[in-house]
Amino acid sequence: MANVSVIGAQWGDEGKGKVVDWLASRADVVVRFQGGHNAGHTLVVGNQTYRLSLLPSGLVRGKLGVIGNGVVVDPEALLAEIARVRAQGLDVSPENLRLADNAILILPLHSAIDRAREAARGERKIGTTGRGIGPAYEDKVARRAIRVADLAEPETLSDKLDELLLHHNTLLAGLGAETFEKQALLDRLLELAPQILPYAEPVWERLDELRRAGRRILFEGAQAVMLDVDHGTYPYVTSSNTVAATAASGAGIGPSAVGFVLGIAKAYTTRVGSGPFPTELTDATGKLLGERGHEFGTVTGRPRRCGWFDATLVRQAVKVAGIQGLVLTKLDVLDGLPELKICTGYEIGGQVVHRLPASPRAQAAARPVYETVPGWSGSSRGARSWAELPAEAVKYVRRIEELVEAPVTLLSTSPERDDTILVRDPFEG
Ligand code: GDP
Ligand code: IMO
Ligand code: MG
Repeated sequence: MANVSVIGAQWGDEGKGKVVDWLASRADVVVRFQGGHNAGHTLVVGNQTYRLSLLPSGLVRGKLGVIGNGVVVDPEALLAEIARVRAQGLDVSPENLRLADNAILILPLHSAIDRAREAARGERKIGTTGRGIGPAYEDKVARRAIRVADLAEPETLSDKLDELLLHHNTLLAGLGAETFEKQALLDRLLELAPQILPYAEPVWERLDELRRAGRRILFEGAQAVMLDVDHGTYPYVTSSNTVAATAASGAGIGPSAVGFVLGIAKAYTTRVGSGPFPTELTDATGKLLGERGHEFGTVTGRPRRCGWFDATLVRQAVKVAGIQGLVLTKLDVLDGLPELKICTGYEIGGQVVHRLPASPRAQAAARPVYETVPGWSGSSRGARSWAELPAEAVKYVRRIEELVEAPVTLLSTSPERDDTILVRDPFEG
């Protein structure tokens, strides 16, 4: 099997960036296919830390990076990120970065609407990243969004801005937020156009050529299955499909190209933003996990909520996304805990169930049923082989494997690129 798709199996921040960077050495091209700069992927390579939001993580390995049509692209954020990583010594140019000419643009009005709506929701806020992701996807399906290729056509931009402003200024005014003026938006887009257009092309054509030439494609997911707009904890989700199947439609390639589906999960659970989280720990253990795991959002700096590993949730993610292999990350964060808990089901209204129901009320009411397993006193941090892992850590991984019904393909034992244990090469299928 030539290609691999990497997706999050929990609520995001599982370590997809680290895993994609590690796997990129075996790939020829890395493709982002959904999400936008709500993603924050951290790569630690020697004494350099790269924080990527829109750029495919393979660029750090010098591989070709492709931003597919399924991504919502804030041109300001893209240029700022390119400048930031260039300052870190990375070479990013139209030679090694290609952007789908049919990708949707995020404009300043999208983040304004995002923030105004969140403020208006009060207690019921979703806890979005405020980056305009939801409003941009809404405009896409409403058929009024500006696409990358439109940057080459001032008249198209002008017409589309009229339509967009008719909609958004009405909404912004109703929410008591500042409205936008067309000319300023148009001028800025025309200024950005010559900086963005050199990256633009029909990427489907390039991907088709690469595929026919037998090149290995690595698809880099953002967010995670439980944030998927269909399969996640709706409405506390992001506005795109995050499952691996989206790699096909979000890059312009057929479903058979998606390849081996690799799901990434932390050895415990975290979540940023609002929404149900059955295994959340609000006690000292939760605090400890947050501190030891440095659980602060890469994008917003918000502390992440922490809890025990939820095997019921990850098993569900395995099923709905077709995950064929699991990568377990941050095992080292559990070092030294005397005992660990794994959620094996939920008690809801006096009954035990083995899936998270669609009903938000049931999701909120779900109480975890735990299996308690022994922790380990030794260190797993930095282990690069099974032999270096404490015996109880190996048992913990094996138990998770059984419960989620997917084999462990890779293990990660520190943020550093090479502190990784390969069990099976996903490119070999
Ligand atoms: P992503 O959004 O899925 O790419 O994950 P993030 O980069 O947002 O968050 C994962 C964090 O955990 C980053 O700071 C990584 O450097 C770090 N990390 C990744 N794998 C490991 C690991 O095995 N152990 C530890 N301690 N940290 C890790
Ligand atoms: P990576 O790729 C964790 C969450 C937000 C919020 C919800 C909706 O780094 O794993 P949005 O701005 O997308 O409309 O917010 O989704 N969220 C993430 N949480 N990791 C991410 O990305 C996330 N991207 C969005 O916190 O709860
Ligand atoms: Mg992240």
